[in-house]
Amino acid sequence: MQVIIFDDAQQVTNNATQWVVELINKKPNPVLGLATGSTPISLYKSLVTKYKAGELSFKNTTSFNLDEYLGIDGSNKQSYRYFMDKNLFDHVDINKNNTFLPTCARGENPREQGLSYEESIKKAGGIDLQILGIGANGHIGFNEPTSSLASRTRIKTLTQQTLDDNSRLFKSDEFQPTLAMTMGIATILDARYVLLMATGKNKAKAVKDMINGPLSATCPSSALQLHENAIILLDKEAASELENLDYYTWANTQNRKINQEFGLYHNY
Ligand code: GLP
Repeated sequence: MQVIIFDDAQQVTNNATQWVVELINKKPNPVLGLATGSTPISLYKSLVTKYKAGELSFKNTTSFNLDEYLGIDGSNKQSYRYFMDKNLFDHVDINKNNTFLPTCARGENPREQGLSYEESIKKAGGIDLQILGIGANGHIGFNEPTSSLASRTRIKTLTQQTLDDNSRLFKSDEFQPTLAMTMGIATILDARYVLLMATGKNKAKAVKDMINGPLSATCPSSALQLHENAIILLDKEAASELENLDYYTWANTQNRKINQEFGLYHNY
């Protein structure tokens, strides 16, 4: 794991933006894994700004989102399809036919839908860079605590904590789904690079459990300890409960020197 601690959330956004821009500008047919939640909104804003400034084009990009609610369709303002359209897709030149979310409409077979999502990812060449946020309970996507570390795209029942955390985003008369389709942990681990963004004090405990371990289904994001290229971007508050805080600061200084001497090379 490469843990990078920044002074504030804006710096986390700036660094995440660089990763996406580098991938898109470097690879002819990049495949991006996308996330929802409040954390990546600033990243999408920043990508839209760069697109409008002519610094990047999403024309050849394919995207796969981590998850989607069950029981509401893409026209519902609470759906993750709607979120992606409003925060990113509607403002850039991505071909929406190449933007995918794991859905399972009424009458469809969740198992088949899950398998077909996995197949689509494979057919696109696999995910180059998976953007992730983290739930206060350590979830990634909607892989709630006790999710199998070998899980694939499937339906998950949301925990009460996640429902409570996310209830702030629903008006009192809006239906809040309790089920979702989500990429599994093994699906996420298949991505060539994973880039997890976490900001704010309320993520500090989850961040500590993810990084300092133990590796356990109780904290699904701890599975990233098994990933060869997991980059964790934190602001100071999210990093505040980490053990070895001094080490990460020291290692980051060294990494900057290593990069200056040997150059940055991401093997997409
Ligand atoms: C949701 C999403 C996750 C996201 C998490 C944290 O439950 N399924 O992908 O990482 O919330 O969201 P936020 O960034 O709003 O804290």
